[in-house]
Amino acid sequence: LRVMPVHRDLVGRRVVITAGPTREALDPVRYLSNHSSGKMGYALAAACAERGASVTLVSGPVTLSTPPGVERIEVISAAEMLTAVESRMPCDLFIGCAAVADYRAAAISEHKLKKTEDASGLTLELVRNPDIVATIAARPDRPFTVGFAAETQALETHAGSKLERKRLDLVVANDVSREGVGFGGDDNAATLLWRERERTRRHTLPRQPKTALANAIVDHIADRMR
Ligand code: CTP
Ligand code: CA
Repeated sequence: LRVMPVHRDLVGRRVVITAGPTREALDPVRYLSNHSSGKMGYALAAACAERGASVTLVSGPVTLSTPPGVERIEVISAAEMLTAVESRMPCDLFIGCAAVADYRAAAISEHKLKKTEDASGLTLELVRNPDIVATIAARPDRPFTVGFAAETQALETHAGSKLERKRLDLVVANDVSREGVGFGGDDNAATLLWRERERTRRHTLPRQPKTALANAIVDHIADRMR
């Protein structure tokens, strides 16, 4: 057993983290969602709590246990996630790690949707969900705001545009097309992107367990917040 030294560099800091997927109901028995396991967000919450922060984890439906000392608020939909996050503002650091559904049903059917007699398909009408990380970054009392970018192509281009469009302080970009990293697995790799002196800077963190990667990301965040 190797005991890692813990830097208590976040004592007195209030941190809010989103994690996991959201579920957008279609009717009483069906929903739209994605494959997010929540592991990365939970690892970040554990890392921040170990370093002395007071941490609220706003979590979609996952099967993970709450890290010691972390306050967990359970939510289902993106709209609920945004309300829960806003209830904990202001704070010092916000990390949007959740895989928030981009769309929800225009209307949730009160009763279970029935198949129609003819054999044709079904068209669902969807509307856009609010962007949680961009909403938090736009607040006058904005915390240091970190977003994730899960991409399957042109990683740095897409992640760089999210950094600017959402006015984030830092983007953690993941290539989710690579075998064994990202969604579901225990390992991840990341490229960190941020703006410094009118330039986009980058730093690559190699593939490692999500718990170790979380600590490396928080090291970087703590440096940038200083
Ligand atoms: N995010 C959010 N609220 C949303 C959608 C995304 O807070 N409604 C956050 C995610 O938690 C993540 C970041 O935005 O931190 C990027 O998510 P991603 O899905 O990669 O980006 P999108 O802007 O949704 O773009 P797209 O899915 O089209 O790539
Ligand atoms: Ca998205």
